[in-house]
Amino acid sequence: MTRHATIIGTGSYLPETTMTNADLERMIETSDQWITSRTGIHERHVVAENETTSDLAARAAAMAIARAGVGLDAIDLLLLGTTSPDYIMPSTACMTQAKLGLSCPAVDLMAACSSFVYALQAGAAAIESGRADTVLVIGAEALTRLVDFTDRSTCVLFGDGAGAVVLGVSDEPGVEAIVLGADGSGAEQLIIPSGGAAAPMTVDGAAARQQFVKMNGGEVFKFAVRVIPRVTTEVLAQSGHTLDELAWLIPHQANKRIIDTIGERLAIDPERVYLNVGRTGNTSAASIPLALDDLYTGGRLRPGDLIALVGFGAGLTWGAATVRWTMPVPDKGGS
Ligand code: ACO
Repeated sequence: MTRHATIIGTGSYLPETTMTNADLERMIETSDQWITSRTGIHERHVVAENETTSDLAARAAAMAIARAGVGLDAIDLLLLGTTSPDYIMPSTACMTQAKLGLSCPAVDLMAACSSFVYALQAGAAAIESGRADTVLVIGAEALTRLVDFTDRSTCVLFGDGAGAVVLGVSDEPGVEAIVLGADGSGAEQLIIPSGGAAAPMTVDGAAARQQFVKMNGGEVFKFAVRVIPRVTTEVLAQSGHTLDELAWLIPHQANKRIIDTIGERLAIDPERVYLNVGRTGNTSAASIPLALDDLYTGGRLRPGDLIALVGFGAGLTWGAATVRWTMPVPDKGGS
């Protein structure tokens, strides 16, 4: 029997507080009209003062574990994708592991907004090889802590949240093909310049606001709309499928204009392209598992559905996966 990895539980968590475009209008020189027309974002969730990335991760993961119906002892490995770790050291995965009461190995994967697809690859590979039976894969972000709320070109884009899946063993394919990529020559396009070993935090660095996200938005836009249609086509071909077979294309929720352009270039029916960036903003590593949980709890994913998950982000990095959905539709009111 071939060992496959399949998704057996999903969970998500969005912080209670929301920040609308009207709130941003009171903070910086911007307008709801500018933000909506350029990004499709209306509001985003923001962590509470006493919350951080591992808190959001633990909430989403606890829900995914409960839905999977497995005990805490069953989790063999915790993989956490994030761009906004609680600390540089220790890992946010370890902070989350303690909050969940787990005792398994735990590690962060940092591929920015592609982190969840990278972590899915590592988790699926651990299961397929027989090194693990049950893997918890989380994408979690408190990115509003790392954006500069005096820089209108970035602060309107990002939001906080977490999503998680539990992967289990199956004799039928769940996670099918995965294609990952990176181009480090684009590292400067999207970067937090200080706080790491290259430029440790200094008073001067902080005064220059180097601890916050800096982005060349135009270049990131061009990169995304060039790479994502190609990698989507590639992962479908690798798993022997065509675009027509897809129930859902689930792209990283960076920006509605990027997602619309990707959809147009692929010539896919917009009804089959998942979109929630309007109410979450860009939640980086969390956006794909948040989308999965939203579709699952909304009864919009059915056993046998083929879906494609596509991420892109800083690095530059990208990743695409085809997944055959195997979880049953939940009872009304969630399960
Ligand atoms: N409100 C009002 N005006 C603004 C704002 C704002 N929030 N931000 C910028 N502007 C102004 C600029 O100052 C500029 O003014 P100027 O012409 O007088 O100089 C004007 O708007 C146009 O600025 P551009 O940067 O050219 O605007 P553009 O149409 O390119 O949109 C955006 C900017 C939305 C950031 C776009 O480039 C984009 O979507 N890029 C991709 C960003 C992205 O998705 N990044 C994340 C992906 S990877 C990851 O998730 C980590």
